[in-house]
Amino acid sequence: MRLPLLIPLLLSAATLLTACSGEVEDTRPGQPVKTRQASFKDIIRSFEPMGVMLRGKNFNADKFLVMANELVAKREAPWAHFGPDTNYPPTKATAEVWQQPEKFERDRLAFIAATDTLLAAAQTKDRQQLEAPYQAVYDTCQGCHKTFRKR
Ligand code: HEC
Repeated sequence: MRLPLLIPLLLSAATLLTACSGEVEDTRPGQPVKTRQASFKDIIRSFEPMGVMLRGKNFNADKFLVMANELVAKREAPWAHFGPDTNYPPTKATAEVWQQPEKFERDRLAFIAATDTLLAAAQTKDRQQLEAPYQAVYDTCQGCHKTFRKR
């Protein structure tokens, strides 16, 4: 299976977007947009290095397992910050988040389930078993972004 070479791009695109939207401050109490964006960035900080490891020569089963555990620990962070009245700049969420809440929830649960599968695979410490579940998590990120995040 081919691993997603696009993940570094996904990261740098997000960084660029952040740089561009830097002028818009989240001035709301509690900064829900800024907080959920920071949560996603935190998720990718654990997720992306796993992909780098699977693509490169520096695979380390113990480190991979640490990151898989981190991913599971971080996976709940963004969702509470998608409150009913939180579609405003500088968000990159689409209006569909609020218009199609059932689909958003389905996509969210698919992501949660895929990270469970990845963690279980990481616990085997068998590299051969990691690529498919890693790709499956990646597909749930992309699947949700397709509808719910602006490009
Ligand atoms: C159920 C939907 C959903 C899933 C699953 C999901 N995301 Fe997102 N993601 C979003 C939405 C919506 C935004 C836009 C948030 C905003 O700007 O208000 C976003 C934003 C981001 C951002 C940009 C943050 C910023 O600073 O603008 C990154 C990076 C990101 N997601 C990475 C990931 C990764 C990596 C995964 C999987 C491991 C993932 N996301 C899974 C919905 C999702």
